[in-house]
Amino acid sequence: MSKQIWKAGNMVYPLPAVMVSCQRPGEKANIITIAWTGTVCTNPAMLYISVRPERYSYDIIRETGEFVVNLTTEKLAKATDYCGVRSGRDVDKFKEMHLTEEPSVQIHVPGIAECPVNIECRVKNILELGSHHMFVAEVLQVHVDESYLDEKGKFHLNDTGLMAYSHGEYKTLGETLGTFGYSVRKKRR
Ligand SMILES: Cc1cc2nc3c(=O)[nH]c(=O)nc-3n(C[C@H](O)[C@H](O)[C@H](O)COP(=O)(O)O)c2cc1C
Repeated sequence: MSKQIWKAGNMVYPLPAVMVSCQRPGEKANIITIAWTGTVCTNPAMLYISVRPERYSYDIIRETGEFVVNLTTEKLAKATDYCGVRSGRDVDKFKEMHLTEEPSVQIHVPGIAECPVNIECRVKNILELGSHHMFVAEVLQVHVDESYLDEKGKFHLNDTGLMAYSHGEYKTLGETLGTFGYSVRKKRR
């Protein structure tokens, strides 16, 4: 396999493209699409989002220290893209995309009702890395769509139609290739 060697750049894909909601008290809620996101700690549950300081959402998140990460699905692909190319300075994204505000439990920022999972977050650290500042946040509460819970209370997240973002494209998730640890699991006879 022969490879070209490129200069430094971002090439970790696929990623989720999440819709992050934020709000200043007394102002309209806003949504920013974020691909630079991920889990950083299991216990306490922590995640990060990296945001350019010029984004309208940046000051809101910095000032309030609160945001909600809303997972996106195939059905929400258009809204996800829209919230990533239009600014809350100019439009009301909840209204334009017909999205519904869902009250949070521990913070003042609403989640997006149409998303199957809403993760309430409080900022713990801000790392000013360069083009993007990384908000490292503690997860306070997780909301899951009850219609994907089975009778035993197991949440079927992978049935919700989750969407991925890879190298500029929104993608559906394909077939299941295995489950955690399957490579070493003994087969039942
Ligand atoms: C798929 C996708 C991923 C994006 N990821 C990021 C990101 O990780 N960080 C960021 O600052 N902007 C990201 N953006 C750009 C912002 O979402 C975009 O500038 C948005 O209009 C900002 O909204 P606001 O001005 O209302 O805050 C992304 C856009 C798209 C379409």
